[in-house]
Amino acid sequence: MPDRILLDYNNMVSPRLGGRGLDPARLAAAAARFRAIQAAVERQRAAGGIAFLQLPYETELVERIRAFADGLGQAFDTVVVLGIGGSALGTSALAQALLPPFWNERDAEARDYYPRLYVLDNIDPTTIGPFLDRLDLARTLFNVVSKSGATAETMAQFLIVRERLRRAFEEGDRGHLIFTTDPEKGVLRDLARAENIASLPIPPGVGGRFSVLSAVGLLPAALVGIPIERLLRGAREMDERCRSDVLEENPAGLFATLQYLAHLEAGASIHVLMPYSDRLYGIADWFRQLWAESLGKRLDRAGREVFRGPTPVKALGATDQHSQVQLYMEGPFDKTVTLLVPAEVPEDVAVPDLYPGTAAFGYLGGHTLAELLRTEAKATATALARHGRMNLTLELPALGPEAIGGLLMLFQIATVYAGEWYDVNAFDQPGVELGKELTGALLRRPGTEVPALDPPDRRWICE
Ligand code: PA5
Repeated sequence: MPDRILLDYNNMVSPRLGGRGLDPARLAAAAARFRAIQAAVERQRAAGGIAFLQLPYETELVERIRAFADGLGQAFDTVVVLGIGGSALGTSALAQALLPPFWNERDAEARDYYPRLYVLDNIDPTTIGPFLDRLDLARTLFNVVSKSGATAETMAQFLIVRERLRRAFEEGDRGHLIFTTDPEKGVLRDLARAENIASLPIPPGVGGRFSVLSAVGLLPAALVGIPIERLLRGAREMDERCRSDVLEENPAGLFATLQYLAHLEAGASIHVLMPYSDRLYGIADWFRQLWAESLGKRLDRAGREVFRGPTPVKALGATDQHSQVQLYMEGPFDKTVTLLVPAEVPEDVAVPDLYPGTAAFGYLGGHTLAELLRTEAKATATALARHGRMNLTLELPALGPEAIGGLLMLFQIATVYAGEWYDVNAFDQPGVELGKELTGALLRRPGTEVPALDPPDRRWICE
């Protein structure tokens, strides 16, 4: 078993792909250019930029989180995170990867008396209403997570929850709230100060999708007993590995460079992340946001219109072998597939040898489900290569906090490198602003119904 994350990229280069895939000479040339990219990233780091790189080293924040999580935080049976996008996806990914399955369905003893954890990352009333109706508010803590304190979805959730808490507890409702928000600015920070509501900071330079290892992800994780210190240890180790300017030694550098070359030089604009593990599926969801929102940009860093960006897609092994994989094998040559495979899992299930010697069952008996899953991952990688399809495998040593911390860090640093390769600002998201502005403009208009901004032309409506 490997003791750290391995990146096997044999199936990205042409010798394995029958002439398709990346030319090793081009990769060597990219490795030379990568030295300059790494130097640029190091310069930004030294100047205090790329703030998320500091998160694994924030020991004081970890102490504050611990103090709350191990103290007041344990007075609750249920923790509900209100947030969206980067304020929710990291927490969901951590919980899915590191809590035993069916956590919220377990009784208190099976949860070791840690609370249940729910992440409300949408505003669908058919979910929110019934969910809140079922809660025992007296035993519930709401963690409102918003960097800006201005996100319509999270603020709407907060207003609904606050009103219910007030009705139930009047002044005492504050004890059921903790805000994770900007240390200085925004309405949540103002409220926390004015009403003495518990709060934790998100460092100013850390944007939502790079915030999983800040209080955004760490507080909920600590509340449910995930050892956040081990998570950060793994993140630190990966950060150290990724300071090398030798491309072959830098897993985040390799991941970003391979994906970039596959896109720009081999037409693979779709980047599939396919964990062979239910527990890692939340990370694929989190990665989709990270890759898409960071790299999908109209302008390059010089302000020229370029319309850049790969399209991240998530798939699940082995489930999607019976769905998406047909397309990946035989459809257009426009994808890379990254298989995410844990070398060891916390629990395994043996397949009984009930019908030895029969064609349908015989080869399965005596193996375990983890073996079957790993074998299927290997078989898929090989089959993709034989079809000339670029793919790489990220092998995790185990499904533990260190490996998960390392993996999250790898993808975040890779996103920084990819921003450099694509020459776009990986840290802004101007494309989502217009939608937010229009929502605000529509809702501020008088009238009971939300009016359309432009009158619809009925010729173009199918009624
Ligand atoms: O990555 C991002 O910046 C976004 O996805 C934000 O996390 C999301 O829009 C929520 O923003 P906020 O935390 O300000 O409520």
